[in-house]
Amino acid sequence: MNVLVVHGPNLNLLGTREPDIYGHETLDDINTALATQADAANITLSSFQSNHEGALVDVIQQARTDGVDAIIINPAAYSHTSVAILDALKAFDGKVIEVHLSNIHTREPFRHHSYVSSRADGIVMGLGSQGYRLALSALITN
Ligand code: DQA
Repeated sequence: MNVLVVHGPNLNLLGTREPDIYGHETLDDINTALATQADAANITLSSFQSNHEGALVDVIQQARTDGVDAIIINPAAYSHTSVAILDALKAFDGKVIEVHLSNIHTREPFRHHSYVSSRADGIVMGLGSQGYRLALSALITN
């Protein structure tokens, strides 16, 4: 299995960005833990972060021809605004798992709706960085 992990805007600041909400782990910590988990399960995993909507669309489009079987995505703020990311995911045939570190439903009303959720096969939220590892576990066991 080939898994792509996509991180949206401002997630490069994890560890120092609002740690009371997003925790103290850095994006590198998260990606390293996922890589270890993937290795142990003989899975190919790559991670990508961008602050730019078009770059996120490009990497999702690329996944269609790169033999990616599943995408784990935290679209971050673009969850709440991006029809373009939703459409790119709709053009991808594999599994999609949406991850949020925080529970978006207990936060400001503008965070309650995610465009991506209508395409997600599963959603993990509110469990911090562990959510990414749970998403990968779900892909491994299913
Ligand atoms: C987030 C929640 C979003 O509302 C926010 O814009 C983020 C991170 C999360 O992981 O909890 O950047 O996706």
